[in-house]
Amino acid sequence: MGIIYNSEERIFKIDTPKSTYMLGIGDDFGHIVHVYYGKKIEGDTFGIPLPTIDPKNKIWYMDGSKMEYPTGDIGDFREHCIEIKNANGAHALECGYKKHRIYGGKPEIPGLPATFAGENECTTLELTLVDEIAGVELVLIYSAFEDVDVITRSVRVKNIGSDELKLTKILSACIDVDNNNFEIITLHGSWGRERHIQRNKLTYGRYGVYSERGVSSHQDHPFMAIVEGGTTQKMGEVYAMNFVYSGNFEAQCELTPQNAARMVMGINPYQFEWTLNSGEVFDAPEVVMVYSANGLGEMTRNFHDLYRKHLIRGKYKSTKRPILINNWEATYFNFDTDKLLSIASKAAELGIEMLVVDDGWFGNRFDDNRALGDWVVNEDKIKGGLKYLVDEVNKLGMKFGMWFEPEMVCPDSDLYRAHPDWAISIPGREPGRARNQLVLDITRKEVRDYIFESMSKVLHSANVEYVKWDMNRALTDVWSADLAADRQGEFYHRYVLGVYDLQGRLIKEFPDLLLENCSSGGGRYDPGMLYFSPQIWCSDNADAITRLDIQEGTSLIYPLSTMGAHITDCPNHSNGRVTPFETRGIVALAGTFGYELDITKIPEEERKQIPDQIAMYHRYNDLVREGDYYRILSFRENNRDDSYMVVSKDKKEALVTFVQVMHMTSVPNLPVKLEGLDPDTMYRIDEIDMTLSGSVLMNAGLPVKWEHGDYKAGLYYLKAVE
Ligand code: GLA
Repeated sequence: MGIIYNSEERIFKIDTPKSTYMLGIGDDFGHIVHVYYGKKIEGDTFGIPLPTIDPKNKIWYMDGSKMEYPTGDIGDFREHCIEIKNANGAHALECGYKKHRIYGGKPEIPGLPATFAGENECTTLELTLVDEIAGVELVLIYSAFEDVDVITRSVRVKNIGSDELKLTKILSACIDVDNNNFEIITLHGSWGRERHIQRNKLTYGRYGVYSERGVSSHQDHPFMAIVEGGTTQKMGEVYAMNFVYSGNFEAQCELTPQNAARMVMGINPYQFEWTLNSGEVFDAPEVVMVYSANGLGEMTRNFHDLYRKHLIRGKYKSTKRPILINNWEATYFNFDTDKLLSIASKAAELGIEMLVVDDGWFGNRFDDNRALGDWVVNEDKIKGGLKYLVDEVNKLGMKFGMWFEPEMVCPDSDLYRAHPDWAISIPGREPGRARNQLVLDITRKEVRDYIFESMSKVLHSANVEYVKWDMNRALTDVWSADLAADRQGEFYHRYVLGVYDLQGRLIKEFPDLLLENCSSGGGRYDPGMLYFSPQIWCSDNADAITRLDIQEGTSLIYPLSTMGAHITDCPNHSNGRVTPFETRGIVALAGTFGYELDITKIPEEERKQIPDQIAMYHRYNDLVREGDYYRILSFRENNRDDSYMVVSKDKKEALVTFVQVMHMTSVPNLPVKLEGLDPDTMYRIDEIDMTLSGSVLMNAGLPVKWEHGDYKAGLYYLKAVE
């Protein structure tokens, strides 16, 4: 059992393989205090004194102690986790211990994505706290995994009073840990430049990243780590949080006057107000917490293992994905059946396994100004109809997939003309547009039903085996005709619940479908979406060099198996850079791998490389998808070379990717010191015709080829010699 309660010491101890988390019932009232989070502590007695409360100075106690789930208006003036408003207008919330339950397994969170585990894979603590005066019951839920250093947290709030209650803020997790010269790591970006690693010193005050865009966003990411000063991939203490949620979030860290770091994460309170009638419950989404005593690399591998085993579902969870060719950068809106079949037949000849028809196959969609919402095949373009096209593609031995942007509507569409009120807008106010589109109010069931039915109709009409679900603008002018004036504060969360409901229905109706999420590239790349789709389009920027930073930041948390990566044409459509075709292939190999170019038009010498690239994918994808990831060199940090590797769990094989981004005359490449190998095993490396020990490779380094020119990339496959 990973969780115990020592009733004499009044301490709960939560264990993962290498970490321990402790909380205590602090005093007779039953305030819950945070006791410890860090390296594993063995045993079941601790002798750690809990803070004592002097009723005359309760406020000092509240403001100075480490609190497990700080509540509003009772004296803890640091960032707190929950705020309410009672019917009489009061805000104070003071919850005391009532009961607890420890059991094997992990509960689902109604309506929300969450990690899952069987009875023997995970232990859960449900800690029930009550404030009778406010009429609030809180259940703090902690689950500790047996196989990864992960603790998940979520919170359930119930109105146990007789009057209506307003919930105006609810975060899902908080930790209070002593400052260890902390630095703070977050992921920042924009369109075409997602998830760049940002690292700063933690100083007094509050530092946070947030989304108020309705999606998790390109700009900031629902991830935060505080790390011991100087932490590297291999050394240093790391506390990380990642939010299993796809909407507005808050991730904040405060260096408190007591020189402790209080890190919190949850739904952004921006415009949030949720009404709970007597007896009603609100479930807050899950936060994943990882502790590593051995640097960022170990944190990364814990996240990867957790998401691969305990979050991603479905047929493609642990299998190779079909190599696709997507027509977006090949044709944009200018295609028809003949063009698509010419791409497909060339692609099939070279070994590509699936054709994906992107934006433009429906309604009057000749450009990006119209027709979103009209999910009816345009037979002027798809001559002969969808079934004919798909059958022809299947005859070539390929699968078929297609693009939707289900949450959107264009003012110039049949859907909008029939139901203008389905678009999100505020009465009397012209809603703002982006890409000439509006967002559908999917908080309304009839709107979700329309979307689901129109998609299902298309998907049932032909053998469609993949869907790319796109979402290309942020939410604004937020208001719903279905919500009373005093419930408009529920909109943003209900929108996210609507997305989950729709995607849940889709994969239930089409259990074999491969779903890929997308949001103008990687604008909604988060664990919430991974619960529904095993892969997410990482960025609209597929330039191999820009992708190094994007993929480094993304793989800091997310497994390579989730990272949508394509080989595109040059000059690159996002930034005009020209890179060798070979380098583009090697960089895309770190993700799901596919093509997005007009295969009938690229130079013959590039086309000729495709069968070898495809063979390379088939040879290495099991390793890339399932192996342990190690970041070796970061171009972002050193401005020269980039390298990462994956090692099989049994350490018998490994694949190293090395990209010589900038050639430096007369200065050899940076040393590539490998990691994760067995020091005593000899590894054969055909690319350099050498057999070297794990110890040599990890300490002296891999002798990579030093080539003439920029943007050169190489793969090195290591195979243990038996
Ligand atoms: C978004 C996606 C692209 C493509 C276009 C189509 O930008 O990220 O991959 O699907 O939409 O309009």
